[in-house]
Amino acid sequence: MDIYQIAIRPVLFDLLKADPEWSHHQAINILSWLSHQTGNSRLHRLLENSLCLQNHRLEQNLFGLHFPNPVGLAAGFDKDGVTSGILSSLGFGFAELGTVTFVAQPGNPRPRLFRLLSDQAVLNRMGFNNSGAAAMAARLAQEKQMFTSSIPIGINLGKSKVTPLEAAAEDYLSSFRLLKDLGDYFVVNVSSPNTPGLRSLQDASMLSSILDVLQTENNSQKPIFVKIAPDLEWEAIADIIKLAQTYQLAGIIATNTTISREGLKTQVIEKTGKSPEQEAGGISGAPLRDRSTEIIRFIWQQTQGQIPIIGVGGIFSPDDAWAKITAGASLIQVYTGWIYEGPMMVRRILEGLLTKLEQNSLNSISEAVGLEFNQGGRQREVGVEAFSEQNF
Ligand SMILES: Cc1cc2nc3c(=O)[nH]c(=O)nc-3n(C[C@H](O)[C@H](O)[C@H](O)COP(=O)(O)O)c2cc1C
Repeated sequence: MDIYQIAIRPVLFDLLKADPEWSHHQAINILSWLSHQTGNSRLHRLLENSLCLQNHRLEQNLFGLHFPNPVGLAAGFDKDGVTSGILSSLGFGFAELGTVTFVAQPGNPRPRLFRLLSDQAVLNRMGFNNSGAAAMAARLAQEKQMFTSSIPIGINLGKSKVTPLEAAAEDYLSSFRLLKDLGDYFVVNVSSPNTPGLRSLQDASMLSSILDVLQTENNSQKPIFVKIAPDLEWEAIADIIKLAQTYQLAGIIATNTTISREGLKTQVIEKTGKSPEQEAGGISGAPLRDRSTEIIRFIWQQTQGQIPIIGVGGIFSPDDAWAKITAGASLIQVYTGWIYEGPMMVRRILEGLLTKLEQNSLNSISEAVGLEFNQGGRQREVGVEAFSEQNF
């Protein structure tokens, strides 16, 4: 029995129509409190017994880190890093904090977060509301003295709104300097639609200047990823793949939210009386699912699986997770699905992945990564004929 689906979600979403940002705030408060109950191992064990699943076939060692399972929490849920102590007890195999910016900032005016229930989606234009890299560094340093996380913790970096685009590299670098010893991996987020001009940093010349300064500073060789938008043209993704190779990135995270409104069933957003087309922001959840998988497939195909991919976008079920992994994602992340399906979702996905491994006679999840290419099925389906393998 799933209490979240039977009772909590209907009350919050349908009956009370609770404000999504308020609900998020409450969830963060509860998890932050739980995170700091370090002396209360019974509480943690209780959560672990119902939400976690350990199985060696789900484990992977990637870019020098051990991942107990491939399902991570995506960036944006815990922008300030206040819940890192509890995330492993929620079943996640890794988690990404942030986006954090060098300068603390309040984000966009409210309302800025909307549920699109009939689309199983969320529209957000939060705008990197966060208390800044220095505050996150102080918090994580303090927590490091109290406990060590049993799962890899990534930190997602964004550009401060007040920093002009020309000074973006210095801004990312300043955050990285403060946080580089406190995260297990780092993400250069150049794909949020909610900071003016940010996505133009995906342009090869802009992105290379950011990656250049970060890798120069990266003396302990922390894995660095770039997170891309689902709305990029194939050519632009191809350019980013080349940069990832040039700057020896650990991999690519595909994808962030989309600015597309195609195929949405929602006509009017109740809170504002406007259509999704009239509201700024990025869409996450089910409408993003196929596009993000297509991008994962493209990256895998172009690189022959040489660049690790973290796949994210519209994962609600084991089938969704399997589609991303077999298209080439070594790891996956969830956010919107977790909001809709509740805390049992991670375990359900892990159980489903184990079943899929069995059905396909595979011994470990790493054998499933890019499986559709090994089976030879879909090599030419993506519509990317213009990109021959020699390009890379
Ligand atoms: C409310 C909300 C806030 C988000 N904030 C961030 C963020 O700060 N940084 C980031 O890289 N992605 C952010 N994302 C994007 C997610 O990390 C993820 O890439 C996207 O939502 C697709 O996954 P999903 O369909 O499972 O939600 C946010 C998503 C949502 C729904």
